[in-house]
Amino acid sequence: MDKILIGDSLKLAKSALVSGSLVAIPTETVYGLAANAFDNLAVRKIYEAKNRPLSNPLIVHVADLEQAEVLVKNPPTIFYDLATKFWPGPLTILLPKQPIVPDLVTANSFNVALRVPNHPLTLELLRSIDFPLAAPSANPFGYVSPTNARHVYDFFGKKVNYILDGGCCTVGIESTIISISPENEIFLHRLGAISVEDLEKKIKTKIKMRDAKGETPGSRKSHYAPHKKLLIGDIETLIQSFQGEKIGVLAFDRAYDQVKPKLQYILSKKGCLHEAAQNLFSGLRYLDSLDIDFIIASYVPPTGVGLAINDKLMRASHIA
Ligand code: TXA
Ligand code: MG
Repeated sequence: MDKILIGDSLKLAKSALVSGSLVAIPTETVYGLAANAFDNLAVRKIYEAKNRPLSNPLIVHVADLEQAEVLVKNPPTIFYDLATKFWPGPLTILLPKQPIVPDLVTANSFNVALRVPNHPLTLELLRSIDFPLAAPSANPFGYVSPTNARHVYDFFGKKVNYILDGGCCTVGIESTIISISPENEIFLHRLGAISVEDLEKKIKTKIKMRDAKGETPGSRKSHYAPHKKLLIGDIETLIQSFQGEKIGVLAFDRAYDQVKPKLQYILSKKGCLHEAAQNLFSGLRYLDSLDIDFIIASYVPPTGVGLAINDKLMRASHIA
């Protein structure tokens, strides 16, 4: 009987991974849909389960810098500085790969994306196996990312062999992705949990922006999107112009009297951007489950992690 299993058993997670099955893993950012990165058959199952094009590569998760080092070719010196300062943590680093990393994982790119997730269960799991884990976010391609085990269960049901339940993700939005040139220049590929300000401050180096062509394959305009149409602007004005329509509100820090409380989701009552990031995907999922036609939202203050939240909101609202 292929009963779905959710639990915190590292033994079950490990045995499923060793036998080439998919396991959902908790990370501090969002849940990942993991497989043995060295096993092409297992990795193929990730693309199939997510309905993800083979042209969109997967992040490789490792336990520590030592495990990462063997997967990259001639790591520039700044890589060690970054890894020491930000790992474990929500920073993904793109570097030229060693041939040992399968082309299927990197979608034939010469670069591999590496990260050490900051979650105690997943770190213990990674230390207990002798292969890295390829893992994209555990959501169907293009939809809102999962921030608890239940979300993953709702998405994938029997397609995953085991869901390692590590509670709610503490950060709530995806890792920041950067690449490093051989000359130690750093380029931003995806806004994420670590702000550019923070990166620049800690490594005392300017981060360069990529043009649209340099964005990672997954940085398409339409992404992280609920099924309901998401409209962004001044909430009061939008409520006015949508009078008579069935709407829900994704608010930053306060409720709006004109709309029933249960049709509203407040990201952070105390106006904290980190709390807002943590609640963003749950809020979108909650509103998406209601009997409404439109979700109305506003951007959050554009500083620190607020920039990444706004980027996600913009992509979630894009009508393809
Ligand atoms: O926080 C995160 O990064 C989460 C957790 C599970 O680690 N993962 C995640 O994976 O967000 P995913 O697949 O949803 O997004 C990864 C992004 C995609 O846009 C993908 O195209 C890009 O990283 N990427 C992965 N490997 C790459 C590579 N070798 N070259 C360029 N882009 C790459
Ligand atoms: Mg994703």
